[in-house]
Amino acid sequence: MSNSESKYNARIIAFGKYVPDKVLDNKYFESIVDTTDEWITTRTGIKERRILEKGATSDLAVKAIQDMVRRFNIDLDTIEVMIVATVTPDMFFPSTACVIMDKLEMENTWGFDLSAACSGYIFAASTARAFIESGLYKRVLVVGADKMSAITDYTDRNTCILFGDAAACTLFERTENKNDGIIDELLYCDGSGRNHLYMLGGGSLNPASHETVDKKMHYIYQDGKAVFKVAVIGMAEVAYEIMVRNNLKPDDVAYLVPHQANLRIIEATRQRMGIDPEKVMVNIHKYGNTTAATIPLCLVDYYDEGKLKKGDNLILASFGAGFTWGGIYLKWSLD
Ligand code: COA
Repeated sequence: MSNSESKYNARIIAFGKYVPDKVLDNKYFESIVDTTDEWITTRTGIKERRILEKGATSDLAVKAIQDMVRRFNIDLDTIEVMIVATVTPDMFFPSTACVIMDKLEMENTWGFDLSAACSGYIFAASTARAFIESGLYKRVLVVGADKMSAITDYTDRNTCILFGDAAACTLFERTENKNDGIIDELLYCDGSGRNHLYMLGGGSLNPASHETVDKKMHYIYQDGKAVFKVAVIGMAEVAYEIMVRNNLKPDDVAYLVPHQANLRIIEATRQRMGIDPEKVMVNIHKYGNTTAATIPLCLVDYYDEGKLKKGDNLILASFGAGFTWGGIYLKWSLD
C-alpha cells in the first residue's frame, strides 16, 4: 500500500520508446580514440550505443510518444501534463516539452522540462505522481529523452565511449487502488557534487563565446573515478533503503530497474539488495548511458520480452549529475 496520504495513486497505463538506427560499436571507438573493446566492456558493460544523426531531442521524444500511441491507442488530447526529463533540450527556451507538443499538435496539454540529469526520469515520475495524487490531474506523461551525442566530445576517451541517444515515455494515470503504481519514493540532491560532472559552457555563468568553444566547454566533463565512488554507494543505498522501508524481502522484488551508467554500479546495487542477477534489468550493452531515457527504456524492453507481469514489485534507482539520486517502488500495472 502506498505510504502517501492521498486517496489516489499514479500508475503506468502506457509506454513507448525510440532508439535511432545508427549504431556505434566499441570497434568504432578503437578507431577514433586510444581505447579497446576489452577496456570498454570490462569497465562499463557497454558494447554499442545508438546515435541520432539528424534532428534533436524533441525528435527522439516525438517518436517515442508515437510508439506509445501505436501500442496503446492513446488519444493525446487526454494527456493533461507532459514532463520532459532531459539535459539536452533542443535549446534553452522554449522548453522541449513545448516543441514536442507543437510537433504532435497537442493542444490540451501543458508541460515543462525537468533537469536532473541521469535521475531525470525518477524525479519526473515523482512529479507526475504528485500532480496525480494531489487530485489536480488524471493523466501525466513522463518523457525521458536525451541526445547525448550533441554534448559529447568524441576526442575524449574518458566520456565518449559512455553515452548514447534515446527516448522513452510512460503515461501515468490516476487510480483509486492504493496498491498499484507508485507506492513509495526517496529522492536526494547533493550540490557539492556539481564539480565532478557538468557541462560548463553555454549557461549564464559562461555564455557561449569563441573562448568557450575553444576550451571545449560545451561538452560533458566527468571525473569518472570520483563519480563512480559516490554513485555506487548512492544507488545501492537508495535501492536498499526503499526495500527496507516497504518491508520488501529480496524474494518480493521482481526487478531492480537501475539507471544504466556502468554495469559495475548496477552489480553493486544488486548485491546490496540481495537479489538474484536475473532480477536486474540490463540493456547498457545495447544503448550505453542514455541519461534520462535509461529507466523507461529498460521497462519497455523487458515488457517486450514478456518478462513483466501485472503486480510485479519494481525498484527503480538512479544516480546522476548534481549529484542527484533516487529510488521509486513501483507496482507494475499492465499484463
Ligand atoms: N579506454 C581505455 N582507457 C581509458 C578509457 C578508455 N575509454 N577511459 C579512461 N581510461 C583510462 C584512464 O585514463 C585511466 O588511466 P590512468 O590510470 O593511466 O590514468 C584508467 O583508464 C583508469 O581510469 P579510471 O577512471 O580509474 O577508470 P574507471 O574504472 O573508474 O572507469 C568510468 C571509468 C568512467 C567507466 C567509471 O569511472 C564510471 O563509470 N564512473 C561513473 C559514471 C557514472 O555513474 N556517472 C553518473 C551518471 S552519468
